[in-house]
Amino acid sequence: MHREITKGVYYVGVDDHHTELFENLWKIPFGVSYNSYLIVDEKIAVVDTVKGPWADEWLNNIKEIVDPSKIDYIILNHMEPDHTGSLPDITAIAPNAIIIYTPFASKMRYSFYDVPNPEKTVADLEELSLGSKTLKFVHAKFLHWPETMMTYIVEDEVLLTCDAFGAFGALNGKHFDDEIKMELVEKESWRYVSAIITSYFKFVQAGIQKVKDLGIGIKFIAPSHGPIYRKDPMWIVQKYAEWSSPELEKYCTIVYGTMYGFTHRAAMTLKKELTELGVEVRLHNVSYSDMSKVIADSVRAGVLAIGTPTYDAFPYPKVWGFVNEVEGKRFPKRPIALFGTYGWGGGGVKKLKEQLERCNYEVMEPVVRVRGKAREEEKGQLKELANAIADVLK
Ligand code: FEO
Repeated sequence: MHREITKGVYYVGVDDHHTELFENLWKIPFGVSYNSYLIVDEKIAVVDTVKGPWADEWLNNIKEIVDPSKIDYIILNHMEPDHTGSLPDITAIAPNAIIIYTPFASKMRYSFYDVPNPEKTVADLEELSLGSKTLKFVHAKFLHWPETMMTYIVEDEVLLTCDAFGAFGALNGKHFDDEIKMELVEKESWRYVSAIITSYFKFVQAGIQKVKDLGIGIKFIAPSHGPIYRKDPMWIVQKYAEWSSPELEKYCTIVYGTMYGFTHRAAMTLKKELTELGVEVRLHNVSYSDMSKVIADSVRAGVLAIGTPTYDAFPYPKVWGFVNEVEGKRFPKRPIALFGTYGWGGGGVKKLKEQLERCNYEVMEPVVRVRGKAREEEKGQLKELANAIADVLK
């Protein structure tokens, strides 16, 4: 089903309620939308496609408005297959439609797809007239890949932002911010941002500044996932600016794994000490918490405390997986507290410390290593660690 956004500009995207894990990694209990936009003028342009299995539904949405074979331009803001997966379907119907994208995207197109259509690469801020409407292409490097751009419909003041300002959550026929419960949008936007975009926070800040510097009017922010903002387009921009800010927040997140409860008890002791010091604590056992929630609660924590058993002389695999996310997603720098347990030789905490220090994170003192069950001495060390954490968060 399509929705008109403003005269001649339509939402033609689809909801996905079937995929359990976005990128095969992140739980999406409320689904996700793949947004696509149709612009009908003297020339017809479609901006982004949808993930491959939803091609038929997407084409049917377009057919409600125009014959897809009449499309003149296929504009690809981003090459990731959740937005280009239906390219073979539309190009089979419209083999002469010109594919428009950045020069970097052109290189990716030939490695991703074998489609015959002609192309036009666009420079940053280049414009294209569709007749009465003008499109301006704004390169948006690393939002979310290096080839990404936004498309601005000048006369209508609609900014099609691709992944930037997106959210998890299917739309279920409620396409606009004034039709949806914003509490859920905020939560699912942050979970989307922290899972997908954390590595690119500096590019989020740069992208927002670039759009501000353009001085363009914005009546609609229309991303590639989640709702279209028309009531308050700058709400989501402000949220993204806050979330990607290098200023972290005044709480401690404890992320730990445990096999038989020793590390769990150490985590609980640390939590108790922190709570008594008035520190807000968020706690995740990696065996039970969904990783997207662990990351969402960790990215902006002023102090991160990580606890691990030793497993085959290495960190507990799920804890190490989390630390790999800290590295891979380039979590903003902040002190990291480490604690853990072992039965005989140790090695779990040691290897985490080495990895984090190699990535230039400050590992706080004391690093608490407990052989088996924490006794008075180690409980004292955990109290000392809690005091050090509280000092950082003052
Ligand atoms: Fe929604 Fe980076 O793709």
